[in-house]
Amino acid sequence: MTDTFPQRVFSGVQPTGNLHLGNYLGAIVNFVAMQKTYDCIYCVVDLHAITVPISVWGGPAALKQATREVTAAFLAAGIDPVKSIVFNQSQVSTHAELTWVFNCVARMGWLSRMTQFKEKAGKDRENASVGLFDYPVLMAADILAYRATHVPVGDDQKQHLELARDIAIKFNNDFGEWIAEKGHPNGFFPVTEPMITGPATRVMSLRDGTKKMSKSDPSDYSRINLTDDADTIAQKVRKAKTDPEPLPSETDGLKTRPEADNLVGIYAALSGLSKEAVLRDHGGSQFSAFKPALADLAVEKLSPIAGEMRRLLADPGHIDRILGDGANRAAAVAGETFRGVKDILGFLQSR
Ligand code: TRP
Repeated sequence: MTDTFPQRVFSGVQPTGNLHLGNYLGAIVNFVAMQKTYDCIYCVVDLHAITVPISVWGGPAALKQATREVTAAFLAAGIDPVKSIVFNQSQVSTHAELTWVFNCVARMGWLSRMTQFKEKAGKDRENASVGLFDYPVLMAADILAYRATHVPVGDDQKQHLELARDIAIKFNNDFGEWIAEKGHPNGFFPVTEPMITGPATRVMSLRDGTKKMSKSDPSDYSRINLTDDADTIAQKVRKAKTDPEPLPSETDGLKTRPEADNLVGIYAALSGLSKEAVLRDHGGSQFSAFKPALADLAVEKLSPIAGEMRRLLADPGHIDRILGDGANRAAAVAGETFRGVKDILGFLQSR
């Protein structure tokens, strides 16, 4: 069914401070690679950011800074803003407009089952914002405004992606008769394919190999930030938690050793090798030998990105112009989709 839709990638990243190695290896590296094969649209999702309390997203100054920081990370990592579209969500009004239409397609029951809402709302659900409940509908609008066929996300977003598929299917069904009349025999929205990046690229805390690397961990030693300088990166790798055994020579030997598994995984992801290949070279090594090798590799791969981010962030006007240009191009695509939606629904519009 998606065959008749041109292949297009869409993904979003929330504007939060402290972008770290997990964001880079789990998302951004894939975004860069996908530019070779697909038309790509990458969005800094500032409308999503305000679904949590102001004390959490930090207020206007922090939001501006974080939006520019994520954009700088995209560019520094190799996303080409000419070939791909890079923009921030709030500049394209279709995201909010299409969310309204999808609010009338999605069912309360579907949203009530979203585990991320339950987690983020916690015990005090009465006090969660309506926006937090509606978060997955906005995400569906992000994707479907561009009729994206492929969405790279981490496995924590799988349920949201299934909701986007359900919304597309229900819209196509509910309005099937009128959609066919308007000349779309395969439905108006594609049923998007998730590209789950999977556990291979899941980066865990350097202090606890069973917890995801996170910007909200109180210990800065738990993560490598994309803006860390070379000395800081090397020191964090040196201090990373390990066990006393040498590295195994097969990946089976990593199963019960979360910290060793994480460091080998990071080495593999940074070098573009498989874990097997890393263990072929480093199996039998003590951490006293492996850690310096990992630190060198991390510095080699990450410090140019940190440097480029600093250079870009020194000229916010330049970043803002890139986002503005991206927003104009995004608005052209999304606007066309939304005119089609209005036409299907019977909303009168001037031509
Ligand atoms: N919810 C995603 C996350 O937290 C971010 C996001 C918003 C997104 N809209 C999207 C991801 C559309 C992919 C496609 O990671």
